[in-house]
Amino acid sequence: MSSGGGPDPADLDRVALAALERVKEGMNLGLGTGKAAEAFIQRLGERVKGGLRVRGVPTSERSDQLMKQLGIPFLKLEEVDGLDLAFDGADEVTPDLCLTKGLGGALLRERVVAHEARTFIVLVTPEKLVPKLGTRTHVPIEVVPFARGIAAKNLTKVGGKPAVRKRPDGSDYYTDNQNLILDTTFAPIDDPVKLDASIRRIPGVVDTGFFLGMAGVVLVGEKGAIRELKRKS
Ligand code: A5P
Repeated sequence: MSSGGGPDPADLDRVALAALERVKEGMNLGLGTGKAAEAFIQRLGERVKGGLRVRGVPTSERSDQLMKQLGIPFLKLEEVDGLDLAFDGADEVTPDLCLTKGLGGALLRERVVAHEARTFIVLVTPEKLVPKLGTRTHVPIEVVPFARGIAAKNLTKVGGKPAVRKRPDGSDYYTDNQNLILDTTFAPIDDPVKLDASIRRIPGVVDTGFFLGMAGVVLVGEKGAIRELKRKS
C-alpha cells in the first residue's frame, strides 16, 4: 500500500505491463476507466508512439481524453465484429471472478465494451480480492434521474441501503450518460446472480455494478509478481 492507503503505483504499473504483453499488432481494444485502466492506457500510449498499430474504444469521457493525449487511435464498436481484448479495473473480485465495478462511475459503458470483447482482462491489486461481493464496497447502481426516489425505495426492499452519489461540492453526480448513481450497501452477498436479477427488475435501473461471468482473466499485481486468475469454464 502507498502512504495514501491506495494501491502502490508500482504494482499498478507492473500489472499494466503484464497486460500489455497480451496486445498484438492490429488488435482492437476496449479501454477501461480508473487507476488500473489508466496505468494500462499510459503504457499502451508509449507502445503506440513506438509504432504499435492498435485501435481502442474508451469506456468514459476520462479515458477518451487520455487516449487523445496519448495519440491512441479511436474505434467505434459498430465498426468491427467484436473487440480482441478489453482491459479494465475492478472494485472487488471473488475467487470465481465475479466483480463489482463502477466506483469510477463508468459501469454502463464499461459493460457495453467488455461484452463485445473476446476476452475481458481485469487489472487489480490484491486489496480488491474478496471472498464475497459486498465485502469491501457498496454496489453502484445507475438509475434514470426521474426514478431516483422510487428506485431507492425499491432497493431497500431487496436489502440494500442506497445513497445518491455526490460530487465533492455536494451536488448530484451524473454519469457520462446523464444518469444518477445509487451507491447501495449490502451485507456480503451470497447469491449475486439472484440479487442482480432482482435489482434489474426495478423500473428506472439502467445498470448495476455486478459484472458476473464476464472476466476471462484477472491479473493481480503485487510486490514483485503477477498472479493470474483464470475463469473456470
Ligand atoms: C470505473 O467505473 C470502475 O469500474 C473502475 O474500473 C473500478 O472502479 C476500478 O478502478 P480503480 O482501478 O481506480 O480502483
